[in-house]
Amino acid sequence: MERIFINGGNPLKGEVTISGAKNAVLAILPATILAQDMCVIENVPRISDVEHMVRILHQLGARVNYINDTTLEIDTSSVNSYVVTHDMTKHMRASYYLIGTLISRFGRAKVAMPGGCNFGVRPIDQHIKGFEILGSEVNLSENAMIEVDATKLAGGLIYLDVVSVGATINCMLAAVRAKGLTVIENAAKEPHIVDLANFLNSMGADIRGAGTDVIKIRGVDRLHGCSYSIIPDQIEAGTFMVAAAATKGSVLIKNVTPKHLESITAKLIQCGITVEEYDDSILVKSDKRAKRCNVKTMPHPGFPTDMQPQMTTLLAIADGTSIVSEGVWDNRFQYVEQLLRMGANINVSGKTATVEGVEQLHGAPVRADDLRAGAAMLIAGLAAKGTTSIENIVYIDRGYDDVVGKFKSLGADIWRVDDEDKPTVVKTETA
Ligand code: EPZ
Repeated sequence: MERIFINGGNPLKGEVTISGAKNAVLAILPATILAQDMCVIENVPRISDVEHMVRILHQLGARVNYINDTTLEIDTSSVNSYVVTHDMTKHMRASYYLIGTLISRFGRAKVAMPGGCNFGVRPIDQHIKGFEILGSEVNLSENAMIEVDATKLAGGLIYLDVVSVGATINCMLAAVRAKGLTVIENAAKEPHIVDLANFLNSMGADIRGAGTDVIKIRGVDRLHGCSYSIIPDQIEAGTFMVAAAATKGSVLIKNVTPKHLESITAKLIQCGITVEEYDDSILVKSDKRAKRCNVKTMPHPGFPTDMQPQMTTLLAIADGTSIVSEGVWDNRFQYVEQLLRMGANINVSGKTATVEGVEQLHGAPVRADDLRAGAAMLIAGLAAKGTTSIENIVYIDRGYDDVVGKFKSLGADIWRVDDEDKPTVVKTETA
């Protein structure tokens, strides 16, 4: 089993370049199936969720090749199946985007229920509601297979009962070739929703309003291939912003869209951190302990739930008491147990954490319970005194491209160990 080790305490200094957005590319890769043609996708992050999605495309009959380290050439003209089995979907939540795509292409889909990070119940009732409004018949058959019969997809009004990124994306994918006008109301507004809409429009779709809470889609008969570059990852950028603040460093984070980071920037400034925005980069620096502040996660443009564990980790060493409220997921504080092992003083009650800032965290053996919990462990280890080891880093590899290499280039004393290899020299904490 691989682990990441960190000898904490080094202020992060220098420059880091952000990779393509995980939650955008995981919607755009399945969407290439609608082109029945060649697509070239640039700025693809090298993360395991992308590898899983590429494997699914291969198994459906597509030809997929890396033409360089971050560019995929995808020919979906040869896709000849609408079945995605459990062994293909169990690793990754985004596998359910294949439903919207396959009913759009074939009028049918048979996709196993998805896997993904576990922070409470993750229903897909809004996805199913959208498919049914567009004229599909949806059944859950044996082996937790979602079977959809959609021979006559026609536009309709879809009002989402909750703001859902996944349901907004799946309804867009199902509607782009449905006859007539589809209106999605109470739609999610995240940057990755806009990126998908821009990609689909590059393929010849007719989508307006992405990024607002009303998206209008006029069905078209055919879509065609295109070349497209994925937007920078808002959450990876935010993770490095918070890491720079937590280690009292000075980091220029390149290849970002500052507008996507506004809520994170605002919170860091509230904590007394210096943040300077440039066209496609952002400088984060601090030479003192962060101040306390309150955070409530909300759908975009609110503070992103996917930044909640990282921000709570900064507040765990801030000066004062902070309140963190989770407004999206039912149970996204499981990682706090690991921070307590490092000396944090946090009390969780339901969807609210009361964070009493402590002067210093201490290195300890911890584990990543999900992707962003893993990011929080990295930040905690970088800021802590002594050595931290992180287990279950398979979660971190799902969403961060070469995270150890990137932190090492900023001066972190960080390395990966495959436990089957040589033993590790662990620095004992100096008295
Ligand atoms: C996406 O998950 C992201 N994953 C998550 O990021 C992110 O936390 C989430 O959006 C919110 O921004 C991907 O994009 C692959 P939702 P998704 O549907 O689409 C409820 C990460 O770390 N809901 O927006 O599954 C749901 O229970 C991952 O990168 C329903 O009730 O999230 C939740 O409370 C973790 N019924 C809320 O809506 C539904 O049919 C938001 O969920 C769908 C969702």
